[in-house]
Amino acid sequence: MKIAMVGSGYVGLVSGACFADFGHEVVCIDKDQSKIDRLREGVMPIYEPGLEALVESNVAAGRLSFTTDLAEGIAGAQAIFIAVGTPSRRGDGHADLSFVNAVAREVGEKLANDAVVVTKSTVPVGTGDEVERIIAETGCNHRVAVVSNPEFLREGAAIGDFKRPDRIVIGTDDDFGREVMREVYRPLFLNESPILFVSRRSAELIKYAANAFLATKITFINEIADLCEKVGANVQDVSRGVGMDNRIGSKFLHAGPGYGGSCFPKDTLALLKTAEDYDSPIRIVEAVVKVNDSRKRAMGRKVIDALGGLDAARGKKVALLGLTFKPNTDDMRDSPSIAIAQALGDAGVEVAGYDPEGMEQAAPLMPDVQMCKTPYEAIEGADALAIVTEWDAFRALDLDRVKALAKAPVLVDLRNIYKPDHMRAAGFTYVSVGRG
Ligand SMILES: NC(=O)c1ccc[n+]([C@@H]2O[C@H](COP(=O)([O-])OP(=O)(O)OC[C@H]3O[C@@H](n4cnc5c(N)ncnc54)[C@H](O)[C@@H]3O)[C@@H](O)[C@H]2O)c1
Repeated sequence: MKIAMVGSGYVGLVSGACFADFGHEVVCIDKDQSKIDRLREGVMPIYEPGLEALVESNVAAGRLSFTTDLAEGIAGAQAIFIAVGTPSRRGDGHADLSFVNAVAREVGEKLANDAVVVTKSTVPVGTGDEVERIIAETGCNHRVAVVSNPEFLREGAAIGDFKRPDRIVIGTDDDFGREVMREVYRPLFLNESPILFVSRRSAELIKYAANAFLATKITFINEIADLCEKVGANVQDVSRGVGMDNRIGSKFLHAGPGYGGSCFPKDTLALLKTAEDYDSPIRIVEAVVKVNDSRKRAMGRKVIDALGGLDAARGKKVALLGLTFKPNTDDMRDSPSIAIAQALGDAGVEVAGYDPEGMEQAAPLMPDVQMCKTPYEAIEGADALAIVTEWDAFRALDLDRVKALAKAPVLVDLRNIYKPDHMRAAGFTYVSVGRG
């Protein structure tokens, strides 16, 4: 089957490469010429483990190609996926659907055969109706079914998630749409991945409800961590004890500096806007958004406290280890490190930063942070180091070298990757999240 993927970012590129790997013929389309040029040269525009090899082998097999020309890319495609961004709209937090709507219009204008148009972007309830309306408005006279197929992959583990998903959600009431989507996902169907067919509106809402729930779980354990600090309990033990209950589950119960990334912050906000529009507020998610927002900057204050408070912190130097919102990605969108660096900068603290993959994206977002080539370069002369992202590279720092390079052996571990007793025995002033 020929598949067109409009939008070749984290989701579009991974999905396109995986569909090609299933044996489909895939054209990835993007309006960003430099992205397409790089892809044609075999250079990945994003960091995602395993992606380069997957793209390379499927290009070599003649199943995967790239273009900026939408008409050429969708010609003969039975399934046309929309995988463009849906960021928060400036000013009000609604999902900005301008990219999705623009693709719908262009597809309507250029379609030359019957096709299923699939929204893979995360879009608010009712967007499928709007995409259908826009396509009809272009005067397109081919048979078109608009289907919702939200994506649940995680950056950093995207290929595995795509190929072995917990579930595939397909929202449509249209037989043609259902038939084409069955064919698209047939290889996974044979793998016994659960496929859930629901209405288009339910599919659209499933994605937001899932992300809001996960954001709530993270925020819940973060507040429990704060309580642990006050009462002298250990949040890792609490979290283990809670998560062993099968009704709760152990995932997303790791206390830290607050959630960030390309999805949770914007999707929780967009869900709240939908809820408001329909006069059906979701107060629990309202609280989650507020708590998480204030937490990121509070983590900056935690580092300042470790330096001895605001007065003592002025003029001191902090090494920030890990800048991306989580490990194994170069994605900096809404990363807690941005608010932490800002809080430190506001307090007159000099900040040096290091990240294994995210420095190129981080540099313009934190212009006052001195970007370093290694963690040790950042640590040199630092009065404290703060681990913001749990990259494997930080799990086994050479502690003697750290002590020799740093001005003071102060470690603020915002991901709880070290053991307090071990660090204290090694001569560090060690501060973690929710461990007494
Ligand atoms: N990143 C994730 O982990 C993730 C996971 C699940 C769902 N999603 C959702 O998937 C969607 C895409 O997210 P992303 O992270 O891949 O975004 P992204 O910003 O990495 O990629 C979007 C791409 O679309 C391209 N684009 C925009 N308008 C276009 C047009 N008119 N024609 C062709 N290309 C166009 C952009 O140039 C860009 O390359 C969003 O709705 C997001 O919420 C993302």
